[in-house]
Amino acid sequence: MSANKESWGSRLGLILAMAGSAVGLGNFLRFPVQAVQNGGGAFIIPYLVCFLVIGIPLLWIEWAMGRFGGKFGHHSTPFILDTMGKNRLWKYIGVFGIWTNIAIAAYYCYLESWTLSYMLHSLLGTFSGLDQEGVAAFFDSYVNLGTSTLGIPYEPIVFFVICLLLNTYFLSLGLAKGVERVAKVGMPLLILFGIFLAYKGLTVTAGENGAIHDSSVGLNYLWTPDYDELWSPTVWLAAAGQIFFTLAVGMGTIHCYAAYVSPKDDIALSAMSAGWMNEFVEVVLGSAILIPISIGYLGIDRVTELVKLGGLGLGFKTLPYLFFQWGDVLGALAGFMWFSLLFFAGITSSLSMGTPWIGFLQDEFNWKLRPAALSFGLIVLVLGMPTVLFFNYGVFDEYDYWAGTVSLVVFALFESILFAWVFGIDKGWREINAGADIRIPVFFKFIIKFVTPMLLLWVFVGSLFTPKD
Ligand code: PFF
Repeated sequence: MSANKESWGSRLGLILAMAGSAVGLGNFLRFPVQAVQNGGGAFIIPYLVCFLVIGIPLLWIEWAMGRFGGKFGHHSTPFILDTMGKNRLWKYIGVFGIWTNIAIAAYYCYLESWTLSYMLHSLLGTFSGLDQEGVAAFFDSYVNLGTSTLGIPYEPIVFFVICLLLNTYFLSLGLAKGVERVAKVGMPLLILFGIFLAYKGLTVTAGENGAIHDSSVGLNYLWTPDYDELWSPTVWLAAAGQIFFTLAVGMGTIHCYAAYVSPKDDIALSAMSAGWMNEFVEVVLGSAILIPISIGYLGIDRVTELVKLGGLGLGFKTLPYLFFQWGDVLGALAGFMWFSLLFFAGITSSLSMGTPWIGFLQDEFNWKLRPAALSFGLIVLVLGMPTVLFFNYGVFDEYDYWAGTVSLVVFALFESILFAWVFGIDKGWREINAGADIRIPVFFKFIIKFVTPMLLLWVFVGSLFTPKD
């Protein structure tokens, strides 16, 4: 039996922690960039279809698996999968999930650390008076480990270490005192900041503060469906990948959080609440900030060009410049707000990436929480270093593609087969509905059994035959 005696403080805390895991840098930085890379409107239909027939069912599957494993005292993916599959193979698939979490954390925490550094630089006015090229050049020099205005040598490494220390510290406080508290403070702040910035994004007007287009240009770019691209497997892979990434499904994270839900408590409604909260932030706030502001000030061509040069950096290369168009004081405040928003979004997600590893050390080796949390920080430091040192050689994007897209599809394919075919859909359906506060329409049973695994298989096979770029 494991030494793990943790639990969630309250249902609201659990939902916020789950939503915190889902709402992250992916919502504000990855979603708009994936949309631009996949032709804007071509992306939106596959994205929404994937949400309904893969995302929502996987949320239910993963919450149900987690709560089921928890009944047997298991809090980590390998043990949970093993209990359901009764075959060692499943345990190894669970271990694969843990590594996916760690590999994602390796580049994700680096990205998260930029937000800390940029919070400070915004307040200090580093970007004031720079043109857009200047702001982009600052970013390039930063990721090249050049000395920035703070004069700290190897500044990105310093912030990366600070970021990992913060993660390790909160993880070592445990779920209720660490993760849940961060989520309870972070999520409401994030939504408030997000609404303010989305308002600014939606009111960009050509001719004001140097904007060249109204916000409608960016919004139309994103939201006008492009039916010609609908059958491209690359777009589907990207859309499915984004759904996995943003909902944090397909890697075993949710299982570990859900393992602490009492067997009597609802999961059907809680899973939906966390999922829809995430979609609100991603689809409404995520598409109302970065794209309309960037396209409004820089135009579609320049934004497409910047995205090609390195997707996840877009928000760092454009927004500080655009904020300072609103004046020095508002610019500094908006920059600080935007990067704090990203930081809260990021840390509530990266904390969840640590839980599978920590749960595993506790379940398998009876480790105590603190050393387990510390070991997570150390592994992420070592695995993340290549993304810091060789950022310009595309290492970062490689991590994102292999760990942040492909692995998720593979894991999800296995777990959906395990749940519907090995464990059995009838038992699985009963697990999802036990203690449920809503009635899930019965056709979802059919979707979970056939449609979700088939679509996953199609996306996976399609990706094998599609060149990466
Ligand atoms: N859902 C997070 C985001 O959109 O930024 C990313 C994420 C969270 C990935 C948790 C993996 C994970 F385990």
